[in-house]
Amino acid sequence: MDLRSPFPALRSDDPANRLTYLDCAATTPTPRPVLDAVAQAMALGGSPGRSLHRLGFAATQALAAAREAIAASLVARAEELVFVRSATEGLNLVAAGWAGPRLGEGDVVVVGRDAHSSNLLPWLRLRGVTVEVVDCTASGELDLDDLARVLGPRTRVVALTHVSNVTGAVTPIAAVAAAIRASAAAGALLVVDGAQALAHLPIDLSRLGCDVYVASAHKTYGPPGFGFVWARERCWAETEPLVVGGGAVVSLDLDRGEVRYVDGPGRLEAGTANLPGAAGTAAALRWLAENRDLERERQLVREAEDALAERRGVTLLGRPRERVGVFSFVVDGVHAHDVASILDSRGVAVRAGHLCAQPLLRRFGQTSAVRASLGVFNDRGDVERLVAGIAEVQRVFGGAGR
Ligand SMILES: Cc1ncc(COP(=O)(O)O)c(C=O)c1O
Repeated sequence: MDLRSPFPALRSDDPANRLTYLDCAATTPTPRPVLDAVAQAMALGGSPGRSLHRLGFAATQALAAAREAIAASLVARAEELVFVRSATEGLNLVAAGWAGPRLGEGDVVVVGRDAHSSNLLPWLRLRGVTVEVVDCTASGELDLDDLARVLGPRTRVVALTHVSNVTGAVTPIAAVAAAIRASAAAGALLVVDGAQALAHLPIDLSRLGCDVYVASAHKTYGPPGFGFVWARERCWAETEPLVVGGGAVVSLDLDRGEVRYVDGPGRLEAGTANLPGAAGTAAALRWLAENRDLERERQLVREAEDALAERRGVTLLGRPRERVGVFSFVVDGVHAHDVASILDSRGVAVRAGHLCAQPLLRRFGQTSAVRASLGVFNDRGDVERLVAGIAEVQRVFGGAGR
């Protein structure tokens, strides 16, 4: 089957104009079944969880079905999911809503140098809390010896990245969770940023061993403006909402000054729910489970990296052993933005810049880089076009490539 055909954004009637899309880590194109699910949810017309008429009921049921389907695809329970706008909002919810009220002077939050800004800034913002940074190895993996070094009795949160948005390295979460539980930091909350993982790896939250898992729909073939956070209900009961308002409250009595919030995730989901986002995400996870092929993706990324590693004047940022199809590189003497522009002129779409991961880039001695990230639809031809495009960049800039 042609894996590009479900994606309207990748279609072109002119083969000479074919787009080689290598920017799935920024956002994934949307396949037709997801577009259909979003359109169907919008066509329902009613307000989920609000109106007591047939359209309202249908919308409420559709939202519950989407929640069940998303939970089932992660081997989790629907009550354990809180819907948010993005992974960024999800991480802020856990940092400001759970950690903020309970952590103070002397408490420690452990983060990785491979973290995205969205999994660093919410923790750095906590007052009085010490943030310890775990280093990465030269191959771009989280340094597990360094992690063991920083874990201590005052460690209250360990916030890690499941898959790096720069190197594609996969952090072995189950093993890390076991190591934390056996350490002086046994009681710490293990928060995992899965924004880049869900599109590539099957996730079984009943076995992963973390306490909180955060994901983003628009990097997982789902719609933008939607994400979710999984945590056990006990953790949710201890979390303060980031926003309050309609739908989150059972009773509000101004005369008595009393407010009673609903139980369960609804307390943290004030405002009208994003039903198209939830329905589209459920469809995306279903579609992905049928269409993803991690072995094929690993083979492609190996071929791409081998080709780049051979090129003089191109430096790969890390080469992790456990990885998905995301990799970054620099071209000697050429700014990453120039590389991306020339590639774009040849129909190859990549991301360039600091990749929202400045601490990791600095670890590699860089301030910016070019990133290629694969999706289910990429093939060997795409990798060849990338490599040919880089050769062109080096020719244009008179670089050292061969
Ligand atoms: C590892 C990682 N975490 C978090 C995010 C933020 O995701 P969102 O766009 O859903 O806020 C990104 C986005 O690039 C990411 O790569």
